[in-house]
Amino acid sequence: MPASAPTEEIYSPGLEGVIAGETAISTVVGGLSYRGYPVGELTERASFDEVAYLLLHGELPTAQELKIFQSRIAASRRLPDCLLALFRAAPQAIPMDTLRTAVSVLAHFDPDVADSSREANLRKAERLLAQIPLAVAAQYRLSEGQEPLVSRDDLSTGDNFLYLLSGQVPSAEVAKAFDVSLILYAEHEFNASTFTARVVTSTESDLHSAIVAAIGALKGALHGGANERVMDVLRAAGGPDTAEVWLRQAMARKEKIMGFGHRVYKTGDVRAGILKTFARQAAERANALQWEETAEVFERILATEKNLHPNLDWPAGRLYHALGLEVPLYTPIFVMSRITGWSAHVIEQASHNRLIRPRARYIGPAVRTVRPLAERG
Ligand SMILES: CC(C)(COP(=O)(O)OP(=O)(O)OC[C@H]1O[C@@H](n2cnc3c(N)ncnc32)[C@H](O)[C@@H]1OP(=O)(O)O)[C@@H](O)C(=O)NCCC(=O)NCCS
Repeated sequence: MPASAPTEEIYSPGLEGVIAGETAISTVVGGLSYRGYPVGELTERASFDEVAYLLLHGELPTAQELKIFQSRIAASRRLPDCLLALFRAAPQAIPMDTLRTAVSVLAHFDPDVADSSREANLRKAERLLAQIPLAVAAQYRLSEGQEPLVSRDDLSTGDNFLYLLSGQVPSAEVAKAFDVSLILYAEHEFNASTFTARVVTSTESDLHSAIVAAIGALKGALHGGANERVMDVLRAAGGPDTAEVWLRQAMARKEKIMGFGHRVYKTGDVRAGILKTFARQAAERANALQWEETAEVFERILATEKNLHPNLDWPAGRLYHALGLEVPLYTPIFVMSRITGWSAHVIEQASHNRLIRPRARYIGPAVRTVRPLAERG
């Protein structure tokens, strides 16, 4: 039976502008909001752990609910020995690759692995929220020739992660800046990696498989991988005095400037404006304002000449650099946060599922006859 052709062919390259499903988790319409709460208010009045609860459970937690949630997370802060052995065996592997493998390995040890009910998926999501920061930090320390550290149950997700990297509990300013970045990275409706997770879920596959696929999608330079390119761009530009010449040459070469542009936001990304303040404050504390000043040159020229504005990765790359974090950690940090949004979408997709299976416009050869091998010359 030939496939039926749609009566009216709708084609949008890159699915631009296509409404590919419904969600109650977040919207970019009217400014980004998570479950109705504007992200700016969330960064001012809530912590990342509260936002994680909001995304997974639908409402902001009460103080009691937050306490119980955080103790469940703390209780799940363990990694199987075989995963640490794998990190030891490949200390120079790319952190996003080891993280993708880590989530796959963690599935084998998850007590709910064969259960895809909503309750089991919530438990799996909370476990990954607890385990991913440990995996990122353990792989990092082993790659630096240092032993992994043991989590501190009294610390939030962000603070514990920073502690696991260095053995130091962050100052209040560093903790707040990092936590705000996690809130802003947590969720963004049908971006490429979330859509990937929803496609996998729509086949009735499991949560860990969806997250592994999402990590693969996030790694790319046009998506989450952009935050690891920001410092490359700034360093290549040299500093505020040489930035304009470098940028104009890059524009003449039609190079893409990582950290600028967005599929949905064509007049600016509210998240970038929020995080910029924290990036600048961190740079002031680190006495390294030259990258902020270089970034200003980029922002001015790209806005006036190309109507291009920074996305969240632009200040995030600078903030993490000013906090003294190594560049290969930046996209894994995005995963640490986005695991909340991805998991919420997996659970939502599974609860109102319909297989995601679009059509392609065929541009190959017209129908032709198969000549037997002996007749093909
Ligand atoms: C995010 C991104 C993939 C969105 O792409 P998109 O919606 O397909 O936008 P388009 O590629 O159609 O861009 C429209 C125009 O702006 C240009 N443009 C977009 N982003 C640009 C960038 N970062 N640097 C230079 N030019 C850019 C395109 O080249 C195109 O120009 P043209 O019309 O002369 O060909 C794109 O902006 C990009 O590659 N940004 C850099 C990577 C990045 O920061 N990713 C993180 C996103 S949150």
